Amino acid sequence: MAFYTQHIRRGFCSSAVRSLAIKHVTIIGSGQMGAGIAQVAASTGHTVTLVDTSDDILKKAVKGIEGSLKRVVKKKFADKPEAGEEFIQKVLKNVSTSTDDGAAVQSTDLVLEAIVENLKIKQDLFGRLDKMAPAHTIFASNTSSLRISDIASSTSRLDKFGGLHFFNPVPMMKLVEVVATSATSQETFDSLLNFSKVLGKTSVSCKDTPGFIVNRLLVPYTMEAIRLHERGHGSKEDIDIAMKLGAGYPMGPFELSDYVGLDVIKFIMDGWNALEPDNPLFAQSELLNKLVAQGKFGRKTGEGFYKYK
Ligand code: CAA
Repeated sequence: MAFYTQHIRRGFCSSAVRSLAIKHVTIIGSGQMGAGIAQVAASTGHTVTLVDTSDDILKKAVKGIEGSLKRVVKKKFADKPEAGEEFIQKVLKNVSTSTDDGAAVQSTDLVLEAIVENLKIKQDLFGRLDKMAPAHTIFASNTSSLRISDIASSTSRLDKFGGLHFFNPVPMMKLVEVVATSATSQETFDSLLNFSKVLGKTSVSCKDTPGFIVNRLLVPYTMEAIRLHERGHGSKEDIDIAMKLGAGYPMGPFELSDYVGLDVIKFIMDGWNALEPDNPLFAQSELLNKLVAQGKFGRKTGEGFYKYK
């Protein structure tokens, strides 16, 4: 298959190829990931338009950004609270919001999508925006489990389409996975690498395969921890302690699942299970299915594997 032979680009390899300096970013989707990316982009001098379906959702997202900025500033400007407040105001000034995605892409360098993990919805979105965004605009998806080339297929800018995968919490996590499809141009890839660098992140180049590097390893590991618990090999608490103290992970697999969202984990697994039903790494978990069916998605709903105040 083509993607097994596609070479992984290591970045900045072609000195003759220019890269686009990304100054304005339009982020579609103002959930945890979209808002986090908006915060980091605005903090590093980019102007950002954050797009979602209602003003209420956007207000909540901007409030979240402000809260997160306060946490950042508490450390970064520990001795200079006034400079910290100034920084927050400067960053917030860089963020505007819109419920009109068509208008929001009319003058932008990068459209970054962080909406629901549904291929058809992502394809429809990009197909529509493709007709409204300027020719130079790069499109990127923050998908955690889908193939970029499948999402890009609804557009006519395959050379200007790539993947930029961030991690939660975006202001804290230092990695960005940069993904080129077989059609992504070197200029686009270099622009995405350069953008990640300007954001202060470290990037790795990934093949366009579901889950890229991190989720392809992290999600099956998390699922195996849940199945281990289901098989009676350990309590959630003990497994979490074991992986934190025995493997040096900052969170155990149950804490991390609650943090990421059980609905997100299940959605990723369901997609991969449909692709490879016989792969034991992608086997279903009754416990996970039950919690998701009960609306217990983790921290965001107040309960998942654990309860939160
Ligand atoms: N914004 C700003 N600062 C934050 C923050 C946020 N959202 N979250 C944490 N911080 C900073 C703050 O400075 C905080 O101090 P305060 O509480 O005083 O504000 C400091 O980090 C310490 O935070 P905590 O005390 O809450 O706990 P911690 O030391 O364990 O750090 C953590 C929190 C960074 C989240 C850490 O636990 C961690 O790295 N966890 C693993 C996260 C991870 O694996 N993420 C990847 C998930 S997979 C994914 O995202 C991909 C996908 O597609 C699903």
